[in-house]
Amino acid sequence: MKDASISLADVLFALVSTLDLVGDDDGHGKRVAQMSYQVGKAFGLSDTDLDELFVAALLHDLGVSTNYVHAHLIKSMEWQGVHEHCHIGAQLAERSSVLKYLSPYILHHHDRWPLLQSLVKKGELTEKQALFANIILLVDRVDAFAWQEISSKNYRHYHMARDFSLQQIEARWQAFFREDIYKAFLRACRADIFWMMNDKQEVIEFVQERLQNVDRLITMAELQEMAVIFANAVDAKSPFTYQHSIGVASLSAYLGKQLGLSESKQQRIYLAGLLHDLGKLDMEDDVLEKQSPLDHEERQKMNRHSFVSLMILRRIKGMEDIALWASQHHEKLNGIGYPARETDLPLESRILAVADIVQALAQDRPYRKGLSVEKILSIVDDMTAEGELDMQVVACLHANHQKAYQVALAEA
Ligand SMILES: [Fe+2]
Ligand SMILES: [Fe+2]
Ligand SMILES: [Fe+2]
Ligand SMILES: [Fe+2]
Repeated sequence: MKDASISLADVLFALVSTLDLVGDDDGHGKRVAQMSYQVGKAFGLSDTDLDELFVAALLHDLGVSTNYVHAHLIKSMEWQGVHEHCHIGAQLAERSSVLKYLSPYILHHHDRWPLLQSLVKKGELTEKQALFANIILLVDRVDAFAWQEISSKNYRHYHMARDFSLQQIEARWQAFFREDIYKAFLRACRADIFWMMNDKQEVIEFVQERLQNVDRLITMAELQEMAVIFANAVDAKSPFTYQHSIGVASLSAYLGKQLGLSESKQQRIYLAGLLHDLGKLDMEDDVLEKQSPLDHEERQKMNRHSFVSLMILRRIKGMEDIALWASQHHEKLNGIGYPARETDLPLESRILAVADIVQALAQDRPYRKGLSVEKILSIVDDMTAEGELDMQVVACLHANHQKAYQVALAEA
């Protein structure tokens, strides 16, 4: 695979921004990374360790993509099923050679210190992994309590919640945290900046600056592995969209190949397919899972997702074409699509639009079973007759419909 000139820092920032879309507090991963960094610094970690802790903290909730799990995360210290998202996240990290090393931190970020200690004794965790996991848990709970207070009091600034969050942690720390970590936290959080840096814009700037320390160019293969993680996070949001993004990616690349796209274009359209729906993480679970057609308000919410995909992906330099195609998957050639009502669409966007419809129709949905290939072709033909879809792409779909149907539904 040819190397891509894509910056790891850009991709990590896009990944955390995507994860932070889940729930209504937009910024949890970034805040936990900022505070972990401050606690690690007060603890006396080396610069290299601080960088590692920072990235681990940024992605600690890689396994959370539903608001349902997220709601628990911000309300209690521990709850039944707390470890499920840790397992999912750790497995996702394992799938990427770049993020693999984060897997133990993600897996153990809700374990209490005595458990971590016993795992170290058994040789299942290193001292460093246990330490980082416990720092992440501490500031993760600080953020959960603070956020609870901010929402209930309608505070405009994060540091207003400091006293409440501190009291909650003080009352519970002994059962959960190693003493010297707790003390390092107390030293770090004496500074107002520890709290003030968590406001929305400030924490974005902090994270972007710190990510420069771990930046390097990544290869196309590494990029693709990371894009699969994005796709999994989106597809895991609802059992009905299971493997939708992977199916759209495969079908787009398949149709692209039949239509004569170069190998590099096929790879790029595959990435666009993996990433096209990431804005869906911004939506409430119940809109995505609704058993009946969406009402006007729900439709408005839904119609924002491809715009959100664009806003996140456009920040990754070198992926502007992919961001554009991904964001145009609901545009229509006759101008009735969204978010831009664009009619001058590149071939890649036209392919993606067809692949998205075919894959969605082929899958079971809350209100209907997956449709047969014949039924799908007739729906696609009607849309083409209305001037919505590209005739050449649809002709290619007809010519290869059995194979296309299999590709759309094949599991990764
Ligand atoms: Fe978590
Ligand atoms: Fe968390
Ligand atoms: Fe979509
Ligand atoms: Fe889609």
